[in-house]
Amino acid sequence: MKRWLMISNRLPVSKDASTGEIKLSSGGLVSALGGIRNGIPKLWIGLEPREAGDPSPALTGKEGEIEYRGVPVDVGLYDRYYNGISNDVLWPLFHYEGGLVHFNGEDWDAYVRVNELLADAIAAEARDDESVWIHDFHLFLLPAMLRKRKPSLHIGFFLHIPFPSSEIFRQLPVREEILQGIMGADLIGFHDYSYLRHFCNALHAVLGVGSDMLSAEYEGRRITLGAFPVSIDTKSFHNRSREPAVEKILRRYRQSFRGLKLILGIDRLDYIKGLRLKLQSFRELLARNPELVGEVQLLQIAVPTRQDVPVYIQLKEEVERLVGEINGRFGRADYAPVLYIYNSIPFEELLALYRLADCLLVSSRRDGMNLVALEFIAAQSPTKPGVVVLSEFTGASATLSHALTINPWDVEKTSEVLKKALSLSDAERREMHQPMLKYLMQYDATDWAASFMKSLEKTRTVPIPERLM
Ligand code: F6P
Repeated sequence: MKRWLMISNRLPVSKDASTGEIKLSSGGLVSALGGIRNGIPKLWIGLEPREAGDPSPALTGKEGEIEYRGVPVDVGLYDRYYNGISNDVLWPLFHYEGGLVHFNGEDWDAYVRVNELLADAIAAEARDDESVWIHDFHLFLLPAMLRKRKPSLHIGFFLHIPFPSSEIFRQLPVREEILQGIMGADLIGFHDYSYLRHFCNALHAVLGVGSDMLSAEYEGRRITLGAFPVSIDTKSFHNRSREPAVEKILRRYRQSFRGLKLILGIDRLDYIKGLRLKLQSFRELLARNPELVGEVQLLQIAVPTRQDVPVYIQLKEEVERLVGEINGRFGRADYAPVLYIYNSIPFEELLALYRLADCLLVSSRRDGMNLVALEFIAAQSPTKPGVVVLSEFTGASATLSHALTINPWDVEKTSEVLKKALSLSDAERREMHQPMLKYLMQYDATDWAASFMKSLEKTRTVPIPERLM
């Protein structure tokens, strides 16, 4: 059986620099790749930042079905590539936050070097003709670098974040380099057709390359393009959320949240997640509906992320100030309207919260997909499922057609939708939930990976016949 090589910035686990403890990584990419179960041998290669002179061997192991291996990289170089370019340029720009972009040439050189480092490691590892699946915006240059080193490989690239409008993309000082890098792949995939359309427009505007949303011709090769919305390991979420350990936590929670309607938010504390907008909508809900004060609670889990980037530090302060303001204004001795936790929580507790909540509120300003919405649906009880209130600026809103969608910038409307979500009958909740669960059961992370990899096998770059060039 042919092996899959999967490449991403982050491995499914990481080693704590001070304690040496191995911890599971969080985030959409890790959860999607970790959810693939198909018996095919898979090797996951990712970066392992470490201090110069650290003699310990590269991190290796097995997580679920996937073997993983770290490629050591100096922490200083990694910082410039990860914080300097990936998180301080590409992440904000691709999420339409152009004002937050800080580009500098030295960081860019580090980004190039780290992509090269991985290209060398993969070229040394991969056998001729193997399939290599490269993930996400940290590795935009890798497809072309790898093709140069080993043209016999089948190279796929998948972007886990939105591809922005070409009007935004064109602001990037390294726009040609990025597109040339991606175009080294045989297959390029996105979550959604709108992202693919933006990519095709950028190709045309920046490189003068035409495409029909199915393929593009570049440097004598035909490259396949497609939309492959990511999914989760639905059955596992569904089954695990019914395990005795989860039931036990759920009983305890039901006792302590007795008499309250619960709106749940689970997000990394990232500006793209729209936490300020979420809190403002919740404040509006209470201000306009005094009868709900004391009746409804927002439980917001904010998972720490990118904690040394200034804009994230500032966001944390603003969110905490807003939480304090709402609790100060509407709270009572025996009631805090917002319960706010700045931490990640154990998996069983997460599943119990999914089951406990009446409603999940996702108010992302932009979000490639948002897998929390999918996980929430998978965990619900079929008799009295919770309702998903979902920003229309998430990739998930294109696939979860029965969710209640919101424009999170419209705080008043969002508060009305929240009120509606809390007042739906069980029958109405079931009507919304069933088709979405059915979709996720029929199309899970394994199907997502299979559809991408099948296309990759089939569509390995065909040189364009000379008469057409
Ligand atoms: O695709 C976006 C992503 O790479 C996801 O894995 C996750 O949502 C997030 O970014 C994680 O970010 P980081 O790896 O920087 O913590």
